[in-house]
Amino acid sequence: MNAPLIDPFARAISYLRVSVTDRCDFRCVYCMSEAMQFLPKKELLTLEELDRMCTTFIGMGVRKLRITGGEPLVRRDIMQFFKGIGRHLDSGALEELTLTTNGSQLERFAGDLYAAGVRRVNISLDTLDEDKFARVTRWGRLPQVLRGIDAAQKAGLQIKINAVALKGFNEDELGTITKWCASRDMKLTWIEVMPMGDLGGEDRVGQFWSLNDVRAAYAQDYTVTELAERTGGPARYVRLEETGQTIGFITPLSHNFCESCNRVRLTCTGELYMCLGQEDMADLRAPLRASDDNAQLEHAIRAAIARKPKGHDFDYSRQRADGQVTRHMSHTGG
Ligand code: 5AD
Ligand code: SF4
Repeated sequence: MNAPLIDPFARAISYLRVSVTDRCDFRCVYCMSEAMQFLPKKELLTLEELDRMCTTFIGMGVRKLRITGGEPLVRRDIMQFFKGIGRHLDSGALEELTLTTNGSQLERFAGDLYAAGVRRVNISLDTLDEDKFARVTRWGRLPQVLRGIDAAQKAGLQIKINAVALKGFNEDELGTITKWCASRDMKLTWIEVMPMGDLGGEDRVGQFWSLNDVRAAYAQDYTVTELAERTGGPARYVRLEETGQTIGFITPLSHNFCESCNRVRLTCTGELYMCLGQEDMADLRAPLRASDDNAQLEHAIRAAIARKPKGHDFDYSRQRADGQVTRHMSHTGG
């Protein structure tokens, strides 16, 4: 194996998030505009190239791979990719293969994902109300996602629900969603909404709901214990003593987790972002395509990791005047 990837701040890079498509079958208001322009297919890495990228990173010490999008399961033949990457689980080189999905295709793919070695999936779901679900996702339909969740549990996949906290939208569902997750033995994480997409546009569904307020809402009904547990990522956890449930909170705008950051993100076009909150990226597609052996690619990866910043300043200074950050989550990967 190659020397492991260590950044300038002595953080070992062991976690790669890979967006395999910028497309999605939903149009969540905080994520995409309804008339979203997608990348031309030729810009995308092929499934073979995605495999080569991931395999190279695994050879350099990546132990955990999360597949994202857009919606990863709408990419054509994506199961072929999962099956292929599964060989690194068999060899022990990779510890975990996971994905983040909207759940729409899980009814179809849950069994194949399990067979490929996936054991845990994160499913984005903001409401248990059919009408509200259709409003926030625009094109999504709740029953289809619920069937996907059933299929995933039947297949043996552990599920974590990611809910974007939206004031005036799912505020009233805090208890319902929490109890539903407990009853189905699913973890729950609340995500603070970032200023992207059309949240404040014509079909406004909600507004920024601070996770401090979400936590305060829990404290009204539960005894809330802060947990020290960290995963190297932006989530903080609490335990609800009455149910024993662990609830996560992801504040993308805070940077109190940067010191333990172990991750980088690869886009579906082969750009490597060393930090979600910074514009700096490295193009890995050119070195990948430049030759059949991986020397140039490995060199480019090391050069990129050497530029990984200490942390981000996810302030509002780099946003456009209309309050949007210039990159969409569906491009960098959620
Ligand atoms: N703010 C917070 N989370 C977002 N996601 C997409 N757009 C945003 C945003 N603007 C989340 C989705 C999903 C993951 C893919 O990214 O809810 O959980
Ligand atoms: Fe699709 Fe997820 Fe974005 Fe919604 S948040 S449009 S499901 S990628």
